Parts: sequence; C-alpha cells; structure tokens
Amino acid sequence: MSHNSDITVRYLNQSRELYGNKIFLDSQTVNVPVPNTKTLESFNKSIRECLKCELGNTRTNFVFGVGNPHAKIVFVGEAPGEKEDLKGEPFVGRAGQLLDKILAAIDLTREDIYICNVIKCRPPQNRDPLPSEVELCEPYLKTQLALINPTLIVALGRIAACTILKTKEPLKDLRNKIFKYEGIDLLVTYHPAALLRNPNFKKPTWEDFQMIRDQYLAD
Ligand code: URA
Ligand code: URA
Repeated sequence: MSHNSDITVRYLNQSRELYGNKIFLDSQTVNVPVPNTKTLESFNKSIRECLKCELGNTRTNFVFGVGNPHAKIVFVGEAPGEKEDLKGEPFVGRAGQLLDKILAAIDLTREDIYICNVIKCRPPQNRDPLPSEVELCEPYLKTQLALINPTLIVALGRIAACTILKTKEPLKDLRNKIFKYEGIDLLVTYHPAALLRNPNFKKPTWEDFQMIRDQYLAD
C-alpha cells in the first residue's frame, strides 16, 4: 500500500472511532506527497501538488526552483513573491532582475547556477514564513541540495539565512563566515530586495560576490 493511502486509511479509522461513519475530509491531511527523489525533475513532479501546509491552498504555482542541476552554487531565497507565484519560477520580479545583474558581474548566468527558496509557495501578502511552514517545507530544500550536490550555498537575506541556520543574528553578523548546511559550505549575503531599498548594501554585497568568485569559482 502506498504511503498516501496508508495515511488516508489511518485517518479514516481514527475519524470513525471519534465520529462514527461521518467523514470529515480535510485536504491538508490528505495531500501529503510521496517524493520521487530520482532526479530534480521527478522530485518536482512528485511534490508540486503538495498541501502539507496552508500555503498550498492560496498559491497559484508551486515554485520548485530553476537552473543547472549540476550547479556548483545554489542560491536560496526566502519564499516566492507575487511574480514568482504567478510564473512558477523563483526570482523573476525586480529583486530577481537585480540578482541577474549581480551574477553577470561575476560572469555567471542562471544557466550556471541553481536558484530556489526555503519555502516553495507564496505566503499571503508576502508575510514571513511561519516556523510550522519551514518545518514542513525545508525537507524539500534538503533533498534538492542532495540531488544537486553543490560546493556552495548562498543564503540571500536575513530570513533565508536565519531559517536555514536556526539563528536570530542580524545579517551583518552572518556575512563573511563559512557555515555548513547539510555538509555543504554556506555563505550569507544581502537579499537583492534589500539592495533595492537601501543602496548602502550594494558595496558589501559586491564584496561578498567577489569573494564567492575568488573562493569558489576559480578553476
Ligand atoms: N524573494 C525571494 O526570497 N524569493 C523569490 O523567489 C523572489 C523574491
Ligand atoms: N536586512 C534584511 O532584512 N535583509 C537583508 O538582506 C539585509 C538587511
């Protein structure tokens, strides 16, 4: 029996004990995907209808991630925004366009790298992800990283960094340090959206990307 129908049967049995033969079907408890982790593509297909948390009920698209499946560097943002939700692709709004320019400055394009978010579905009004949502969604990120096996993860912005690293430190104290996540080097830099709000972040971000180029892209 599949994992899914197993869960369903257990749910129905519990429900019968509590309520008799009336069924209270709740989509959140039913659509727990069975991940196929053979390739990134099969993994995406197997989880894109996910309804493990509430965000599945309000999203337009599940935003899995894009880029080179053999990338050396994986960029990880917080969660999709409006444009990303509509297109089903990460970093396609204004922040994403700026990210493309920053990448170009160190001779990278989206085809060279991989980009995704900690949370795959847009939180309503772009609110911060809830701890419960992170807990349910983060395993997807971990599987993506295992399949890509990059040499570096770059966390974009405080929310991505703090959810991944389980810390509350301010972003400026997380820069210029090499962390480990799933056994992979992880660096933290400013979110491109923060650069749009505050141009003072541009210079330190440029320094971070030069460091990434020199430490991780030299052949
Ligand atoms: N901001 C993020 O953190 N991720 C996106 O995909 C877009 C904007
Ligand atoms: N503050 C934030 O919240 N994010 C950044 O990327 C930088 C400063």
